[in-house]
Amino acid sequence: LDNGLGKTPQMGWNSWNHFGCRINETVIRETADALISTGLAKAGYTYVNVDDCWASARDSTTKFIQPDPSTFPSGMAALADYVHSRGLLFGLYSDAGYETCAGRPGSFGYEDIDAHVYAQWKVDYLKYDNCNSRPTNCTIKERYERMRDALNRTGRPIFYSACEWGEMLPALWFRSVANSWRTTGDIVDTWLLMLLNIDINNLFWSFAAPHGFNDPDMLEIGNGGMTYNEYRTHMSLWSIAKAPLLIGCDVRNISKESLELLTNPEVIAVNQDPLGLQGKKVRIDPYNGTEVWAGPLVDGSMAVVAFNRNNDMSQAVVVSFSDLGWKTTSQVKVRDLWARQDLGQFQCNYTALNIEPHGVQMLKMTLIASE
Ligand code: DGJ
Repeated sequence: LDNGLGKTPQMGWNSWNHFGCRINETVIRETADALISTGLAKAGYTYVNVDDCWASARDSTTKFIQPDPSTFPSGMAALADYVHSRGLLFGLYSDAGYETCAGRPGSFGYEDIDAHVYAQWKVDYLKYDNCNSRPTNCTIKERYERMRDALNRTGRPIFYSACEWGEMLPALWFRSVANSWRTTGDIVDTWLLMLLNIDINNLFWSFAAPHGFNDPDMLEIGNGGMTYNEYRTHMSLWSIAKAPLLIGCDVRNISKESLELLTNPEVIAVNQDPLGLQGKKVRIDPYNGTEVWAGPLVDGSMAVVAFNRNNDMSQAVVVSFSDLGWKTTSQVKVRDLWARQDLGQFQCNYTALNIEPHGVQMLKMTLIASE
């Protein structure tokens, strides 16, 4: 959706993965503060997004949506002001049905009223879910277009993140509707389910471009279900796939290790590269479980993830330059992005040695000469 937003994938924080429905205005304010004090905001994580469970009911006469008075007593305008005063952007959540997944009021039939209220509150981002939408005569596409048009009519730029994945393969038609769309079910903080999401998301690589990105769901880094290495792989794959980078942990108590994974500037630069094309698998070795993921960057180089999916063995991952679309006679400069170190110049291929089980080496490769 070209509403001027989402030239590169959105970055920020969302309450759902860690807090679920246990949210309140203090948590959100403290999170905004923590995004600043940890340096995460500076690294690019600027949206502070409140997920499900903030809304309680509609005013019986105006039908305006009201925040839960027990958890958001100061109201959403005050919260948005606070987030803006910290130099950050404010996001809310609703649903294209009668109720949200957690049973709070949905927006179907109230799109213009809700969009108007969001704009009054100075909301910058809407995540729009797809629970409890039956029965209506409208297709999913129509229900998401109704909110797109309502947001557009407010005149306020509001990033539109569609959270629909289960029906009609949204990636195939969401480009004209939203700035990002989910391609998978909810992420779970485990190695296998994280991989399931990014593998499904990979199928839709050709539909991602500036103003519309595939969304394999939010980050789990910092939530404790994976090892450091596995989280590093999670961050590498999300970055090269141009996935939204939405932190899902409690940033008020984030560890040094998680911060390090979330703030590496060279890894983030791959995700935020202005070309905005999704990196994808270019080589799979099903026997030893190694994979090469690659995608082009605006300066003509390639971002590469050399990935060892094997559960037990450390092993080498070969990145052959022909898999990147380059001649075997090419001379290629290789840089390790996590280590932030140049590795030298290579011909024919580059071999990432000794990659630990579930680990990666993330690289930038630049063609310097081709005979
Ligand atoms: C389903 C979505 O996929 C989650 O990310 C979250 O928004 C929940 N709904 C909230 O109920």
